[in-house]
Amino acid sequence: MAKTLIVQAAPVGEWADRYLQEHYDVIRLWQEADPLACLAQRSDATALVTSVRRGCTAEMMDRLPALRLIASWGVGYETIDVAAASARNIRVTNTPDVLDDCVADMAWALLLATARRIPEGDRYVKGGQWRTIGAFPLATRVSGKRLGILGMGRIGEAIARRASGFDMEVRYHNRRKRNDVPWGYASSLKELAGWADFLAIACVGGPATRHLVNAEVIDALGPKGILINIARGSVIDQPAMLAALRDGRLGGAGLDVLDNEPAVPPELAQMDQVSLMPHTASATRETRRQMEQLVIDNLEAFLQGRPLLTPVAP
Ligand code: 8YV
Repeated sequence: MAKTLIVQAAPVGEWADRYLQEHYDVIRLWQEADPLACLAQRSDATALVTSVRRGCTAEMMDRLPALRLIASWGVGYETIDVAAASARNIRVTNTPDVLDDCVADMAWALLLATARRIPEGDRYVKGGQWRTIGAFPLATRVSGKRLGILGMGRIGEAIARRASGFDMEVRYHNRRKRNDVPWGYASSLKELAGWADFLAIACVGGPATRHLVNAEVIDALGPKGILINIARGSVIDQPAMLAALRDGRLGGAGLDVLDNEPAVPPELAQMDQVSLMPHTASATRETRRQMEQLVIDNLEAFLQGRPLLTPVAP
């Protein structure tokens, strides 16, 4: 029997890539010299697999008139034109839930690392300064402090839950107040930043949240405040953050994501009060395997006419 045709726009992990190759007739678009021309030749494809990094444009959809599913790897889907997909009767799935814990763990790792100067201490010990200089500068206490969270979705909740182990008070700002969570609501982000010692960003990316964390919010967080970002670089006005860090108007930052990543402003890379990670909050073997599984499970639910597991809400 002929295998079902799947268009794969980007790699989605070793296990799933191999699974797709074994079970389907896969067009690997990223290996094609002219991906759009290649799509035009396979216009009978009904399912496309992609990643949040690669996404799917309306132009790609137009080349695939039979397309009915875009199964994407990653919880974010700002790189997929969901409105264009809906207009063409194409469903979209992502990989939420399975990565909440690891992403929240990374927010805490960055918070602790930045407040307690872990990367700097590591360099100090390994570089031999412990012996030659001795005293290491004092750090910032974490336990008992105030944690502000921007975005109270499932990842925001997972970050907030972890705060109880550190006896921290949590408040959040969200598009709307939630009545099903125990944490206090701040009606404006500036108010939240003014109250918080640490401000963790856990909202969606895309135009709706672009530069929400602007100079005013950063100044409200202040010279002792620490900004944590495991969401998208676009949420922070990066030049404003850089200027505030340079001037000492912001205490520090722990960033898993950057605007225009993987480009890193050289000045940011030189700052001891900043901890950086290469967008790896979900990147544990266990979680990545579950994300890959969810891509395949959504794809096969679609192909077998079953309800999709994690459709993206229109
Ligand atoms: C990935 C992510 O680590 O799921 C998402 O939306 O951002 C992460 O899980 C990221 O896409 C890697 O570039």
